[in-house]
Amino acid sequence: MNYQEYEKAVSELNRYAYHYYVLDNPIATDEEYDKLYHDVIAYEAANSHAIIPASPTQRVGDVVSDGFAKAKHLSRMWSLEDVFDAEELQAWLTKTYKLDSNVTFYCEPKFDGASLNLIYENGVLTQGITRGDGSEGELITQNVKTIRTIPLVIEHKERLEIRGEVVLYKEEFERINKERLEAGEPLFANPRNAAAGSLRQLDSSITASRNLVFLPYGVGENTLEHKLLSEKMEYIYSLGFRAPPQRAKCQGFEEIQAFYEQMKSEREKYAMMLDGMVIKVDQIAAQIDMGYTVKNPRFSCAYKFPAIEKVTRVKEIILQVGRTGAVTPVAIVEPTDIEGVIVERATLHNFDEIERKDIRIGDSVIILRSGDVIPKIIKVLQERRSGDEVAVVRPTHCPVCDSELLDEGVLLKCQNLTCDARVVNSIIYFASKPCLNIDGLGDKIVEALYNAHLVRSVKDLFSLTLEELLALEGFKEKKSQKLLDAIEKAKGCEYHRFINSLGIEHIGEVASKTLACEFGAGFIDATKEQITACEGFGQEMAESLLEFVRVNRETILELEAILMPKAPAQRVEAKENPFKGKSVVLTGSMSQSRDTIKEMLESLGAKVVGSVSKKSDFVIYGEDAGSKLDKAQALGVACIDEATMRSMIEGV
Ligand code: IVH
Repeated sequence: MNYQEYEKAVSELNRYAYHYYVLDNPIATDEEYDKLYHDVIAYEAANSHAIIPASPTQRVGDVVSDGFAKAKHLSRMWSLEDVFDAEELQAWLTKTYKLDSNVTFYCEPKFDGASLNLIYENGVLTQGITRGDGSEGELITQNVKTIRTIPLVIEHKERLEIRGEVVLYKEEFERINKERLEAGEPLFANPRNAAAGSLRQLDSSITASRNLVFLPYGVGENTLEHKLLSEKMEYIYSLGFRAPPQRAKCQGFEEIQAFYEQMKSEREKYAMMLDGMVIKVDQIAAQIDMGYTVKNPRFSCAYKFPAIEKVTRVKEIILQVGRTGAVTPVAIVEPTDIEGVIVERATLHNFDEIERKDIRIGDSVIILRSGDVIPKIIKVLQERRSGDEVAVVRPTHCPVCDSELLDEGVLLKCQNLTCDARVVNSIIYFASKPCLNIDGLGDKIVEALYNAHLVRSVKDLFSLTLEELLALEGFKEKKSQKLLDAIEKAKGCEYHRFINSLGIEHIGEVASKTLACEFGAGFIDATKEQITACEGFGQEMAESLLEFVRVNRETILELEAILMPKAPAQRVEAKENPFKGKSVVLTGSMSQSRDTIKEMLESLGAKVVGSVSKKSDFVIYGEDAGSKLDKAQALGVACIDEATMRSMIEGV
């Protein structure tokens, strides 16, 4: 590769990445990207003096700093005046029209994250600075460079400050917290804290792993000559930044209010957290005339959404025993209205979390309700303590069956398989949506059936009679018949629903589908090797499945006989060959298209997967193979070329 080719490769990589990360619309496969990236690394290794700043290798998250230096913003970062309802909006508009009666407005979401200032000089990102006190913040350039939605280089050559919010998408936040819960690490209270915390990591590889997203909302120092802010922002997006999911030019109160109502009602649907809508005067000249108060611009305000965080008091902490025996503490709080929903309980995850946050009965706490997620306590207001608060004692016995709990630190577990709570919850789970989806068989009804000794295991559901149901309180003929019909309808369900309904630890919906697809009814006879060869299956999952089958084989077969789940179409058994049952990765270009070769290998019983891991059996490479081949060699996976593969299957 010569310098021209190197430059071209870098710009091609950036174009791929822009479509992938910013537009969410990939135009190249991972493979193509990897291959080019690999070539770029090779060139840079040999020409370290010629590395260009736009190279994606410059995003590497392997810089560890021992603290952040302070840096000044070129122009001040302001805050916004808040308005909370239509009346306050009207008052703000009246005030603004007094300064200039001809203005119109540009409205966009107010993102709930951490603000960030980017400085570009000669088109190159030179500094990333946190907001700090508005005049100076912390210099976190190395971390900022790991954020894929921030271009390292832009087409605009004059000095430019771009301001925006760094956010963590809700899904990503849940993923990170789940990992932290499993690792026994303290949880992030909300995506905002998680985003801010991720930005200020001394080890930039941690920032890189968090998949932060940057959403620009304005400029600081700039030489742009657009007359309207809306035009200026379109220009900024065109430089390679991600545009907000919604934005609108509004004429006055009615239009602003309507856009706000729409955004508020759709708030849960957005991938990121929004805490309001920002309204800005669109005419730049009018903005300049209006100027600033000591704190805020006069030409802009934040129209906040109703809070989803509220202060309440912990009345009691109760213990719930789930179907797996896991004992989770739940806080019962003073009933509090959070955006129209009365919240009375909040999850506490586990006892380590209570101890870490030092949550006591009687404490004033901040709770957060967001979407369908169960409300949670995000902070204890220790300064409000009176001294009468009572610390929570870690239980040693199951609150339901009184058997001794297994204490594994993060996990407290009731090991009694016949514990009422475990059984009832397994039945509830069995009937739930992702499992058998039995209409009308919710918590209350399962409890009633269990307490009346009509249903003591899932199997009993299928021998319920109309007479038995009619004898229960509140069960009239119609309701009882409906329930029986719904239970009957569960028969003949899809096979993966049946597997999922068994509630095997570590085997969720996706894993159940994989098992159903790979083995159908044969899943109970699958060996450890066969299970771990399935995509997404590790040791822990395989062991959990094997143990479950060992203990419950009879029950599984009985249930299967009752339910008669539909087995998915089984693949025709392939003849013996070296690739049968093997996990294979293809890389590089071959004599036929990748899809054709994949199909051929699959018909031989191979599983063709996209990425190389220790579990891969073969990597088959063509010409110009890229990083996958290197990785396979490093992992000691057998690497064979196309011709070898063909010779291995000759005559099959
Ligand atoms: S404009 C001229 N627009 O909210 C004032 N801010 O309370 C500059 N924020 O520190 C702010 N989304 O971090 C603006 N679409 C948006 C925003 C936004 C989130 C944050 C920003 C700022 C704070 C102001």
